[in-house]
This record gives sequence, structure tokens and C-alpha cells, in this order.
Amino acid sequence: MTIVWHVDPNDIEPADGWPGLAEAGRLLAAGETVAFPTETVYGLGADATNTAAVEAVFQAKGRPSDNPLIVHIADWAQLDGLVAEVSDTARRLMARFWPGPLTLVLPVRPGAVSPRVTAGLDTVAVRMPAHPVALALIRAAGCPVAAPSANRSGRPSPTLAAHVREDLDGRIAGLVDAGPTGVGLESTVAEVIGDSVHVLRPGGVTAAEMQAALPDCTVVSGGSHAGEADGRTTTGDGVEPPSAAAAAADAADALAYVPKSPGIKYTHYAPKGVLTIVRPSITVSSASALGDSDPDPDPDPLCGWVQKQIRAARQQGERTGVLTTRSRAPLYDADLVIGCGDADDLEAAAHGLYAALRDFDEAGIARMWAEAYPEGGLGEAIMNRLLKAAGGRIVGLSSQS
Ligand code: TXA
Ligand code: MG
Repeated sequence: MTIVWHVDPNDIEPADGWPGLAEAGRLLAAGETVAFPTETVYGLGADATNTAAVEAVFQAKGRPSDNPLIVHIADWAQLDGLVAEVSDTARRLMARFWPGPLTLVLPVRPGAVSPRVTAGLDTVAVRMPAHPVALALIRAAGCPVAAPSANRSGRPSPTLAAHVREDLDGRIAGLVDAGPTGVGLESTVAEVIGDSVHVLRPGGVTAAEMQAALPDCTVVSGGSHAGEADGRTTTGDGVEPPSAAAAAADAADALAYVPKSPGIKYTHYAPKGVLTIVRPSITVSSASALGDSDPDPDPDPLCGWVQKQIRAARQQGERTGVLTTRSRAPLYDADLVIGCGDADDLEAAAHGLYAALRDFDEAGIARMWAEAYPEGGLGEAIMNRLLKAAGGRIVGLSSQS
């Protein structure tokens, strides 16, 4: 039922376009839904000006209707038709990062897109993806293309065409398969307010990169807590109360002006099993936090603690999983251990994260633990997604008591 076109993005685009894209573009223009690759994740596209088409996207995904969509453009000329104005600061960001994984929230030109795209807001989120196939498809469609990630709502975003088929086969008109996406996490969503840039969702473009491009402006980023409206640090057995540092960060978030992004209140990227993030903490003694009075110093208390949880889960008959870096993966013994990127290779971690979450589901893992990644650069987006996947469950372990 879903037509699939295969396109090799490494081929030079033929003068008359890649085979299949003309048909995919015609379907989009005719109000159908077509999934396509971008440099971040696969998107599920529809003509942004066509309310019935946009409704079909919400329908296929099972997405709450008050969560607005990103509009994708291929040419600068398309921007003016969509927005009422673009500030100098926003223009500088576009000049530096478009095409690329940065979405800007801008004042919408009244009537430019279906009100279902903006969910009734007076702003529209726009981006120009850095993917030759996405750009060719948008041009073939001849309209601005509204596209959320092409996953069922609540599932990890798709980084492979196979992920799109898992979630949406038969529910959408077409799928352009051009292999794996690049970044692996969604675009950064940002809004310019006066002289500051507010990061609503960390993503492929880091806050530091934007700050470097705009030395005279302030880039406000909430760290991995950004947008965690319902994120929480849980307490309970073996789980620390919020650390002083995390509490301070939360308080700072609450005080900072962060404009509303409706999507942030929903649980995203949730694996089917229960995921807990573990990270070293400087504020809690391991003896009290872990109820562990072992006087022998553990050379790797983090791994030791997780293995203890794994043993307990296995005794309950649960399948267990660990997500960590490639270099630390050999330390673990669980039903599925995934080494994803490394502390000094966060690009690889971002690239593999969603596929890893899907692999845990596939393997029927009921309980899994993920080691925290460093939070600098792309680590901010990685930890933001991991925290959401974990429903905010995070455990801080002190490296020594
Ligand atoms: O990389 C990406 O951004 C991918 C690819 C397909 O482009 N798209 C994507 O779309 O991640 P989606 O729908 O999964 O996420 C869009 C986010 C949501 O959090 C939504 O609330 C926010 O952007 N958003 C959209 N329009 C907005 C607006 N006018 N104001 C504030 N936030 C907005
Ligand atoms: Mg999404």
C-alpha cells in the first residue's frame, strides 16, 4: 500500500531528477503523505498549505493535534511566503546554518500555511534540510512541506527507512528510501527574542556553534533539562534525590524565559521497556545512595551498580539491556549490550541512539540502563533525548564514598 522509491543520495542527481522523486512530489502536491530522509531523521511530509493533507500526517502518526509541525523549504524564496518578518539575528543564523539541522520559530504570515501546521500559534517553525534528496523532493512537490519525524507518536524517530516501515507501512502513501540519515537526532529548534536566541529543543546545531556565530547575542540553552516540562529526577530505592547541581539547573530553567514549544510536554522517544540513566554524581555518597556498605573500593562503581540491578532483574525473569559507549560495552553482561559512540565521538552516539532504542524493543528488553554521555556539544541533545526516553529516571552514583 505504501509505495517505496529507492534513491542513492551519493549518485549525481540526473538532470531530470532522481527516478521516483517526480512521482513522490506529485503525490505530495496532490495532498498525500510521503516519508523522506533528511540529514537528521526521516520526516513524514505533507503539503503545508493543505489542511486535509496535514491532518493525514497527524492521523498516520497518532500525534496530538496541539503539537505544531516544522515546515521544510528548499529555496530561500519560499521563506518570504511563509513568514511575516525575519529579524537580523534570525537571518544571520540562517546564513550560517541553512541548509542544516536548525529550525527557526518565526512570526507566521497569516494564511500562509494550514492552521493545523501551527496548531493555532502565531509562529511557524521553518527549516531548510541539508539533504540532497529532501531538497529535490520539496522542489518536485512545489510547495512548503510540513514534516514531523516519521515515527508513530511516542516511538524513537526513524534514522532508517526500515524504521519508517516498522511504524507507518500501509498508513502513508509513499516512502523515499535513501539509506541512513546523518546526524541521527532531530534539528535544533530555536526562537530569536530581541538579542537572545532561545533553544527550545537541543539538536544537530549546538548552542556553542550558534553562540560562536553570534558573539554579540546571548544563546539561552536549558542544558539537557531544556523543555523537560514533565521531566523529573525520581526518588526511591537506590535512586538519588535530585542533586544540588540538577536542582540548581532546574531552578535556573524555571527562572529563565523559555518560550513555549507545545511538543515538549509530551513523552517522546519512549522504548517499550523501562530505561534508567546512570551517571556519576559528585553530590551523593555511594554508600548512602546505593544502600551499599561494601568497604572494598569498587574500581568501577557505576558498572558494579548496574550489574547488581541486572542480577536482580534477571531473578525476576526480566530481559535486561545496557546502553553505553563502545569502549565500555565489554565491561557489561546483559541480554543486550549496545556500544553506541564514545565520549570523544558524540557524533557516532547521536547517529546510533534511536536505532539502539529500537533494538532494545526488538529484543524484548524489559529493563535497561544507559550510561550518561558527556553533556557538552552534541551531548546536550543526546542527553535531552535519553532523559525523555527514560521518562526522567536518572540515578547519580558517586565514584567513591
Ligand atoms: O530534524 C527535525 O526537526 C525533524 C526532521 C523531519 O526535519 N522533524 C522533527 O519534527 O523533529 P517534530 O514534529 O518531531 O518536532 C517538531 C518540534 C516539536 O517539538 C514542536 O512542538 C516544535 O518543533 N514546534 C513546531 N512548531 C513550533 C512553533 N511554532 N513554536 C514552537 N515550537 C514549535
Ligand atoms: Mg518527532
